Amino acid sequence: MNVVLIGFMGSGKTTVGRRLAQRLGYTFIDTDQFIEGELGCTIAEVFSIQGEAYFRALESRVADRLKGLQNVVISTGGGMPIGPGNLERLRAAGTVVFIKAGLEDILARLERDTRRPMLKGGDLRERVQQLLGERLPTYEQADLVVESHGKSVNRVCGEIIRHLGELRSQAAGDKPTAKVAGPAPAEGT
Ligand code: S3P
Repeated sequence: MNVVLIGFMGSGKTTVGRRLAQRLGYTFIDTDQFIEGELGCTIAEVFSIQGEAYFRALESRVADRLKGLQNVVISTGGGMPIGPGNLERLRAAGTVVFIKAGLEDILARLERDTRRPMLKGGDLRERVQQLLGERLPTYEQADLVVESHGKSVNRVCGEIIRHLGELRSQAAGDKPTAKVAGPAPAEGT
């Protein structure tokens, strides 16, 4: 059983993913780090040397390979679910969870970012708003949507764990439950 985290840049997928993996006793994988490890260079270098299309093709290949893994939490690059067929590839790999961060939270985290090629040039707010608008409809197709605003990493993880349990018992034939995760019982920060 795997968990696949999707969401915009700066929405906390990697931080949540690491903690979630710890709590579930799973292995953590970050698709960007995986690609960097395989190529021996940074994502920014791939974009500047080979171009975005090359990176997107790599992402699709990686998405396809994820289904072979067991008991992993996978944090994906923000554009991975957007590539044609990739959301289906991610679904084949595990339960897809959208970490839904608000625009202001995202902007605050990306404000000083210098390493993400998709954010280079122009006004950051306009760029993020435009990309987010294009991508939200795809992100919303996740099996589970967890809003992160104002919540600690532990609380987000707690909600994911609780709703994974519900989705799994639902799949096993129990009563259906809502897709959007509601508040979990209070947890420490
Ligand atoms: C991208 C997001 C990045 C990385 C690449 C492209 C995107 O990952 O894959 O820079 O298109 O949204 P993070 O979401 O981890 O920042």
